[in-house]
Amino acid sequence: MSSETPESSASLPTGVDDPTSAPTRRTFLATTAVSGALVTGGVVGSTLFVDADVATAVTPPGSQLTLTVNGIRRTVRVDNRTSLLDLLRQHFELTGSKKGCNAGACGACTVLVDGRRINSCLTLAVRLEGATVTTIEGLADGDSLHPLQQAFIDQDAFQCGYCTPGQIMSGVGCIEEGHTSSQEEIREWMSGNLCRCGCYVKIVRAVEQTAAGK
Ligand code: FES
Ligand code: FES
Repeated sequence: MSSETPESSASLPTGVDDPTSAPTRRTFLATTAVSGALVTGGVVGSTLFVDADVATAVTPPGSQLTLTVNGIRRTVRVDNRTSLLDLLRQHFELTGSKKGCNAGACGACTVLVDGRRINSCLTLAVRLEGATVTTIEGLADGDSLHPLQQAFIDQDAFQCGYCTPGQIMSGVGCIEEGHTSSQEEIREWMSGNLCRCGCYVKIVRAVEQTAAGK
């Protein structure tokens, strides 16, 4: 058995940290910086390099896009990952379309694209070059509400109102598609729009009222 005693930290040269001691702020920063570089790149001799793929990934690809929103032609440059919902809310400040689930399950984000109702949270904005988009902000004609907006008021078809823009845009699509021959059919074709306040009976009546007035 060796009688040699472990080298004490007192014998280390000046400037060298004792590996057995608790990490200091300096050693922590140095360790994380080096290990981070090793994960993302590599070391050649004493020179750190960064993988080219990692470097380019820092800047996400973007695209220029021109589309018409509520009758106004707009050109914008967006990150290719931007959803139509985020384009509307964050770039154009059209916050009427709501982000409920952001996963296609609630319908709060429903808008019309070229006359068809879609979940804007699931739609990549870059795919809509040249499209015509209508949101809840574009539905009224000046001070005159769209008939379905008026019907929602007449039928008292909302409580908190969070789902209402999506319900109305979906209702407009439902009426245009002709799926309003009965309350059951309206329920079926509006089933993608959830209302946590449970206003379904009155929402169906509002769609029914509007369809009857066409
Ligand atoms: Fe788009 Fe729920 S936010 S479906
Ligand atoms: Fe509140 Fe529909 S009115 S979620």
